[in-house]
Amino acid sequence: MIRDQFGDVTLYNGDALAVLSDMPDESVDAVLTDPPYSSGGVTITARQADPASKYQKSGTMRRYPPMLGDAKDQRSWTAWCMIWLGQCWRVARDGSPLMVFTDWRQLPAMSDAVQGAGWKWLGIVPWDKRNARPQIGKFRQQCEYVLYACKGSLLLGTRACLPGLYSCPVVSAQKVHLTSKPVSLIRELLAITRSDGIVLDPFMGGGSVGIACREAGRGYVGIELSPEYYAISRERIRKI
Ligand SMILES: C[S@@+](CC[C@H](N)C(=O)[O-])C[C@H]1O[C@@H](n2cnc3c(N)ncnc32)[C@H](O)[C@@H]1O
Repeated sequence: MIRDQFGDVTLYNGDALAVLSDMPDESVDAVLTDPPYSSGGVTITARQADPASKYQKSGTMRRYPPMLGDAKDQRSWTAWCMIWLGQCWRVARDGSPLMVFTDWRQLPAMSDAVQGAGWKWLGIVPWDKRNARPQIGKFRQQCEYVLYACKGSLLLGTRACLPGLYSCPVVSAQKVHLTSKPVSLIRELLAITRSDGIVLDPFMGGGSVGIACREAGRGYVGIELSPEYYAISRERIRKI
């Protein structure tokens, strides 16, 4: 397993479960992550399709390195989420917030997994992506969701009253990953975390959470299975 450390950033190229199980108890102050959704259809064939065909608008020419771990069926995905969320719970200090991205299809399963892993569910923060795929005669699936929860009683990281939803477009030119989240959105979400804390992200992808943590002065522990995405995110985070 590859490990890099600079400043208060620690990065691992490996499987989230293997890395998490080696991390000490109560060693991070927040978990903010964006796991593979294994979404995109109700049949196993649809779920096992190439993530580019599931998550990209048809006709998009841009290609990204392959995204791993996105083809589980419903029950195995939910069970897997509960296992890594349980590891995150163990690794988080008491009072830590958890923020985990999901889409409309996986929202019910993710809320089961979050609570089954021991987290106290506090709510859902919709993320309005603005530029979702139009669908004739149907509502756009314009939002993804951040489920938020805490370990024990939430230790307040701010006295500010935070918004209940965020509207933030994905800027294609800034994307390095098929499912990149905007750094500006992550910066907003970090408001709930302690300013001197360490944020854990077991599914680093192109590094949006890591970049936002560096910009906001948070420590960061990131894990990514794909060597290609690991190299991309390490360089992006290191540059900040
Ligand atoms: C939804 S993406 C994260 C995108 C990221 N938030 C961004 O803005 O770039 C999920 C990432 O998890 C990685 N992944 C999948 N299975 C994994 C595993 N078992 N351990 C660690 N990373 C994994 C995928 O390769 C993918 O890059």
